[in-house]
Amino acid sequence: MKVGVIYESTRGRTKAMAEAICEGVISAGAECEVIDAKEFNGLTDICALAIGSSTRMKRVLPMVKRIISELTDLKGLPAAGFGSYGWSGEAPDEISNRLKELDAELVIELPIKAKDYPGESVIEECRHLGTLLAARCG
Ligand SMILES: Cc1cc2nc3c(=O)[nH]c(=O)nc-3n(C[C@H](O)[C@H](O)[C@H](O)COP(=O)(O)O)c2cc1C
Repeated sequence: MKVGVIYESTRGRTKAMAEAICEGVISAGAECEVIDAKEFNGLTDICALAIGSSTRMKRVLPMVKRIISELTDLKGLPAAGFGSYGWSGEAPDEISNRLKELDAELVIELPIKAKDYPGESVIEECRHLGTLLAARCG
């Protein structure tokens, strides 16, 4: 069982957040896989989940949009949303709301957002999120 961190990113900013989340997971002693949304093919052996996308035209990017639309009941799976944005940042909220709708258990109250490139404090938040997800993977 591992933590899955799915992301879609145009310029590597949300990707950097995904990598920091996995660093946190691994530092806490659990396994983690960073999954490019283009390569996603199902939630197998996942004990916790983070999904990230940057915001484009106030929306989630298309591959992550498809994934969150197609996912079915998450049955209390520990989860969180994240993403980089430029000015309005709707995508992480859209992800988080959809995770709630799918009955995931959000491990952080609000999704993690990075304005532009994630700075050190956001990277630390991402690592911390990783440790929270890892803690749910017993
Ligand atoms: C065509 C286009 C549309 C965008 N629309 C939005 C938007 O509606 N709201 C927002 O906050 N940022 C918007 N952005 C900014 C990106 O979300 C921002 O550059 C982000 O850091 C990209 O992260 P990424 O490298 O993970 O894709 C837009 C950027 C582009 C190129």
